[in-house]
Amino acid sequence: MLGRKVPSVTFRTRVRDESIGGPNPFRWQEVSSDDYFAGKRVVLFSLPGAFTPTCSTYQLPDFEKLHAEFQAEGIDEIYCISVNDAFVMNAWGKSQDLENVKLIPDGSGEFTRKMGMLVAKDNLGFGKRSWRYGAVVNNGVVEQWFEEEGYSDNCDSDPYGVSSPQNILESLKGIRKAA
Ligand code: BEZ
Repeated sequence: MLGRKVPSVTFRTRVRDESIGGPNPFRWQEVSSDDYFAGKRVVLFSLPGAFTPTCSTYQLPDFEKLHAEFQAEGIDEIYCISVNDAFVMNAWGKSQDLENVKLIPDGSGEFTRKMGMLVAKDNLGFGKRSWRYGAVVNNGVVEQWFEEEGYSDNCDSDPYGVSSPQNILESLKGIRKAA
């Protein structure tokens, strides 16, 4: 994965647009991989699903809290991607009071499949979802890779450690000190 360019896909997001009026002032907005990744050094992390316990209790809120520390290590954005549609991702972001981490809806799983990270989670009734991983992506190219062990379909467990914000931050700090 190191040195590979992230896949070029179009994400279908929902954005607020007050000009629409009414009780649900949102419209579709297509956002490309280039829009998210070109000219920026970002942390991308991917998880099995919005609203799932580990992701909602630890991984996403901890990335949110540590945002300033990531910025201090030269990270422009933190993106959380999941194989969920834009409605679900927006509702999850709202429930988490997110201000810093940006959510990317990969509803069709195209990005995740092209990253080689799509797994079956039919054992949980989830269908196809993402294996947990994190990455530092510099101008669209994977600079560091943090994949949880045991990539597999219908995995009984849900390993979470190397893709934690604490681990990725430590790695970034180590690189800076070594430089
Ligand atoms: C969790 O984040 O705890 C979780 C993820 C996928 C399935 C079940 C739980």
